[in-house]
Amino acid sequence: MKKAYDFGLIGLGVMGRNFILNVADNGFTAYGNDLDEEKVNALREEGGDLDKVNATTDVATFVAALSKPRKIMMLVPAGKIVDAVIEGLLPHIDAGDILIDGGNSFFTDTDRREAYLSEKGIHFFGAGVSGGAKGARKGPSIMPGGSKEGYAAVQPIFEAVSAKYKGEPCVAYLGPKSAGNYVKMVHNGIEYGLMQLTSEIYDVLKKGGDFSNDELHRTYSNWNEGRLQSFLVEITSEIFEQEDPLGDGRLVDQILDKAKQKGTGKWTSQNAMDLGIPVPSIDIAVSMREISALKEERVRADALYDRPQVKKMDKKVLEKLSEEALYFAFIITYAQGLHQLADASKEYGYDVDIATIAKIWRAGCIIRAGLLADITEAFKEDASLPNLLLSPSFIEKVRSTVGAARKLVAYGAENGIPLPALSNSLTYFDAYTSSRLPLNVIQAQRDYFGSHTYERLDREGIFHTEWEA
Ligand code: 6PG
Repeated sequence: MKKAYDFGLIGLGVMGRNFILNVADNGFTAYGNDLDEEKVNALREEGGDLDKVNATTDVATFVAALSKPRKIMMLVPAGKIVDAVIEGLLPHIDAGDILIDGGNSFFTDTDRREAYLSEKGIHFFGAGVSGGAKGARKGPSIMPGGSKEGYAAVQPIFEAVSAKYKGEPCVAYLGPKSAGNYVKMVHNGIEYGLMQLTSEIYDVLKKGGDFSNDELHRTYSNWNEGRLQSFLVEITSEIFEQEDPLGDGRLVDQILDKAKQKGTGKWTSQNAMDLGIPVPSIDIAVSMREISALKEERVRADALYDRPQVKKMDKKVLEKLSEEALYFAFIITYAQGLHQLADASKEYGYDVDIATIAKIWRAGCIIRAGLLADITEAFKEDASLPNLLLSPSFIEKVRSTVGAARKLVAYGAENGIPLPALSNSLTYFDAYTSSRLPLNVIQAQRDYFGSHTYERLDREGIFHTEWEA
C-alpha cells in the first residue's frame, strides 16, 4: 500500500500552491486539492516527485490519501467558500482529524465553525498566514489559535515551514477560539496604517523636497538600514526603482491612485470601535483607501479649490524630519494595534501573550520590522502593559521623535499636503498623554440637554444640574 501523506491542503491558488511546496521542501509529504484541474496539474508538475507532492480534484481521493489523524489546511477566500469546503469535507473526515482555516476569515465565523466542528469531534482552528506568495513559499509568519490539541498535531510542520527570526520559528499557539484570526486581523489593520504612513512620507518628500524617484529609492533604502528597517520600507524603496514595462519612466508614476481593500483593515477599525479602543491611525488608513476610491470627485473638487503654493524645504532637513516622524508614527501604530489586542484578549477570553505576538511578527509577515524586537522585549518586561507608550523602554524613542512629527504635520497643513495618518498618530499621542482633556465640556453638554449626569473632580458621586438658560 502507498504511504499516506503527512499534510493536506485545499485551495491551490497562489498562496496554497506556495505553502504546499514549502511543506514539501521541509521534508513532509503533502497532498493538494482544488476543483480547478489546471491548478491540480500545475502543482503535480511543479512538485516533481508525486510521492512527495501530489494533488487531485476529487475530495474523497484527497482525504483517503492522508495519514490519520488527517491534517488538512484550507487556503481559500474567506466567507461562504470556507463553509462550502467544510460541508464538502465532512462526509469524508473523522472525529480526531484536524482542520485548519489559513485564510483571512472574520473571527466570529471562526468561532461559529469551531463550535460546529467540535461537536463532531473535529479539531478546528484558524491560523492567520502572512507574508504573501513569497512568504508562503519561503517562510510565512503563522498565527494559529483554537484547538490546542489540534495545533499540537501540526506544530512540527508549522514550525518547519514558518519564517525564522534568529533561528526562532515565527509561529506560536496564540489562544483558544478565534485568537489566531483575530491576531491576523489586527496585523492587517497595522499593515494598513504602516502602508498609509509610508505613502504619506513619499508625498511630502516629493512635494516638499522635489525628491526624484532615484532619491526616494536611496532615502527609503538608507532608512531600511537603520531603525526603520522593515519589509514595507524595503519594498517601497524597490518600488521607486521599477521601470515602467509599458512606457518610459518609472512604473510608480503611472499607477492609478485608487487603493483597493479586501476588508480586514476595516474589520480591525470596526471591532476596535465595538471594544471602545481608539486606533485612529488605522481608522484613517481605511478612510484614505475610501477617499482614494473617489477619484472622479477628487478631480472635480481639485479644480474648485486653491491650495497653497508649496514652500520647498531643504532636502536634508526634510529627509531627517521624515525619518524621525515615520519612526514615531510606526511606534504609535503598533501601540494602537497591540492595545486593541490586549483588550480583545480580555473581552473574548483569548488570553494572548502580547510578547509572543510581537515575537512571531519579527520575520515572515508583512509588518515585520526591526522595531518588533524592541516591542517584544517591552512586553516581556511587563506582560500587563496596557499600551506601548507606557513602557519605560519606549519613552526616549518617542520623546526624541515627536518633535519631528509636529514639525512635519504643521508643514503639511501649511502647504496643503495631506498627512492624515501622521497627524492622527500625533493627535492620538497628544490626547493619550494628556491628563486633562476638554471632555468635561461634553459631559456638561450631555447633562444640559439630556440630564445625562456627570461626575466631579473634587468629590465622589453622580451629579445633575438644572442648567440656567
Ligand atoms: C498578509 C496580508 C494579506 C492581505 C493582503 C491584502 O499578511 O500577507 O495581510 O493577508 O490579504 O495584504 O489586503 P487588502 O486587499 O485588504 O489590502
